[in-house]
Amino acid sequence: MLTGDLLAWYDRHAREMPWRTGPAARASGEQPDPYRVWLSEVMLQQTTVAAVRDYFLRFTLRWPDVAALASARDEDVMAEWAGLGYYARARNLLKCAREVAARGGFPGSRDGLLTLPGIGPYTASAVAAIAYDEPATVVDGNVERVMSRLFEVETPLPAAKPELVRLAETLTPALRPGDYAQAVMDLGATICTPRSPACGICPWIDPCRARASGTAASLPRKAPK
Ligand code: ADE
Repeated sequence: MLTGDLLAWYDRHAREMPWRTGPAARASGEQPDPYRVWLSEVMLQQTTVAAVRDYFLRFTLRWPDVAALASARDEDVMAEWAGLGYYARARNLLKCAREVAARGGFPGSRDGLLTLPGIGPYTASAVAAIAYDEPATVVDGNVERVMSRLFEVETPLPAAKPELVRLAETLTPALRPGDYAQAVMDLGATICTPRSPACGICPWIDPCRARASGTAASLPRKAPK
């Protein structure tokens, strides 16, 4: 079973990240804190995991919960953000934190999260799946690449996007959707890489259509700009 094989791989190979709960917590069903998941997902937009790690640790040490961040001074938050780039993200982060604090906490569903300033479909899906185990599908560039290869989608991006989203949705499990989302992202980041994918150690080597026809490294196709 596709999703089961991927989750089994994730249980053994998930990358350790400070905003993830470990295998023991996952096994006991402990849910990650929506504040930490939200903060990490905002930081990870346009920035690599390696670059985000230390920023995330400094932020959460200084502002351990959303109420603390909400009462921070703008200039302190901007100073801690310095170096991460895309400074609109930091301004939106504060705006969102203040709204969440005013409401007494994060809304408990994807639909609720979408009503917050600065939270779009990607972030709402990621927080709902990872923190609430809502079966929301999370699609970033890694997921697009993995889906395009697994199902050998020849349509170039961006036209292929709706189909890739639909394919990712068909695989999203009712149980452990947050782990599934992070597993596909980890697979894309570590094995199903843009160039020279490590198909030999991929948990999806057997079902992968692009692997079977030798087209993996050429997918996803991109329309000329
Ligand atoms: N990229 C963005 N969010 C991520 C996550 N939760 N795990 C791995 N890669 C990511």
